[in-house]
Amino acid sequence: MAIDWPNLTFAYMPTNGYLVVEYAEGVWGTPEVRTEPYIPLHIAASCLHYGQEAFEGLKAFTTRDGRVVLFRPEQNARRMALSAERLCMAPVPEELFISVCVQAVQANREFVPPYGTGASLYIRPLLIGTEPTVGVKASDTYMFIVLVTPVGPYYKDGFRPVEAAVLAGYDRAAPYGTGRAKTGGNYAASLLPSHLGKEQGYPIILFTDPAEHKYVDEFGTSNFMGITHDGVYKTPSSSSILKSVTNDSLQILAADMGLPVVSAPIAVSDLGQFAEVGACGTAAVITPISAVHHGDVVYRFGAADTAGPVLTELFGRLQGIQYGDLPDTHGWLLDVDAAVPVAE
Ligand SMILES: Cc1ncc(COP(=O)(O)O)c(C=O)c1O
Repeated sequence: MAIDWPNLTFAYMPTNGYLVVEYAEGVWGTPEVRTEPYIPLHIAASCLHYGQEAFEGLKAFTTRDGRVVLFRPEQNARRMALSAERLCMAPVPEELFISVCVQAVQANREFVPPYGTGASLYIRPLLIGTEPTVGVKASDTYMFIVLVTPVGPYYKDGFRPVEAAVLAGYDRAAPYGTGRAKTGGNYAASLLPSHLGKEQGYPIILFTDPAEHKYVDEFGTSNFMGITHDGVYKTPSSSSILKSVTNDSLQILAADMGLPVVSAPIAVSDLGQFAEVGACGTAAVITPISAVHHGDVVYRFGAADTAGPVLTELFGRLQGIQYGDLPDTHGWLLDVDAAVPVAE
């Protein structure tokens, strides 16, 4: 099958199969490849009724010199372990997580987009509670699944800014809830405000802290980061946001560029301090944000049609490392052919 790599979207495409590992009686079994894109699941499984599910998202890239690499998979493994802990699920050991991701890529080698297409292979690890539970309780059995699908370049028409809005009356997470976990419920809670935002012309929604609605939390599927007028990289610290691997990587690259990096609460009323604002995450790396609408107040950052210089530089550096155009100075890439499978 010929794949039109540069014109792929962010959508599921059938592949050779997915990897699955089951957990029962306190032990993880052996990873298996399944070719049909379905899972046998009990109708009373805890993931369906009580939301015991956590997922991850990372990418594999073909580098300039033809290697296939994963970007910082251990970070996703650690974050899934945190999500599992919060949702009272069996954690997937880090080595097993990485090994199953590597095997899923290896089983779908021909779906890894070639270098130069701007596309990548999206990897979606998923952990679900499978025990039939009619009463509310944590499952004793789990399934860890890794599916992959090729996705196209996020910016086909250039690295252009979009406008965001804060929608009053909607939170994605609660103050001591599951905002730090990557679990479906947070995304379900964001669907309606995101839909309403799009209807009002805002492709992206900014959530504020759920306790006071005074501070910036994060966008629906990405972290908030910005460069202040005096050249500081700032990102919110909050107990209800997801710890983004991209944001962490950008902070390290910003420090390499000599920028001070600050993680602290950011009041919505202080958004005027930013010269550049971005939404950062695995899918797009950075989406430049040219304005945040908050009720009748509009905060504007830089030009409406072009990304600012610091975000452009950070974006170039991160993508440059991912595609092997720049040296991997922080040891972020894992070569799938060099990865050792977990011993059984
Ligand atoms: C709510 C939320 N915040 C932040 C991110 C960015 O995280 P990462 O950079 O690890 O993709 C994502 C995307 O995964 C997300 O869904």
